[in-house]
Amino acid sequence: MTVKDIVNKYKNKRENLLLILHEIQNCHPQNYLSKEDIELLSKEIKIPVSDIVGTASFYSMFSFTPRGKYIIRVCESLPCHLLGAQTIFKAIETKLGIKEGETTKDGLFTLEGTSCLGICSVAPAIMINDEAYGNLDEEKIGKILDQIREKESKNND
Ligand code: FES
Repeated sequence: MTVKDIVNKYKNKRENLLLILHEIQNCHPQNYLSKEDIELLSKEIKIPVSDIVGTASFYSMFSFTPRGKYIIRVCESLPCHLLGAQTIFKAIETKLGIKEGETTKDGLFTLEGTSCLGICSVAPAIMINDEAYGNLDEEKIGKILDQIREKESKNND
């Protein structure tokens, strides 16, 4: 879907800016808001680029740099922290060979920290794109990442 299509879908309304930005980011194969897309959006919706960037930078879910197909967000708030979020972080770093804020060389995964995901009852918790995972331990997270890799390699066959 093009930026124009997305803006039209949300009826060119300024109050839909966050939904529009979210969809533009999701439609980009590298999961981010590119300079070109922001400029196109600015023209379509008639909001200055600086205002769009100002709004998007307020929210941690938006990125201005290219990211992987799967964004892994590890909750770092207190309940998850107390129940082992750091172990989960380390397990993911070791498994994927990346640090927080980095993307794997194959462009598949980006690792990020985040505040509470609203699913504290299943701490420690993470989100991978729009999917939530809870009650994690090193083994469980390893299996989840393996399953995603397997699915992706099948898709590429
Ligand atoms: S503290 Fe981690 S999901 Fe709420």
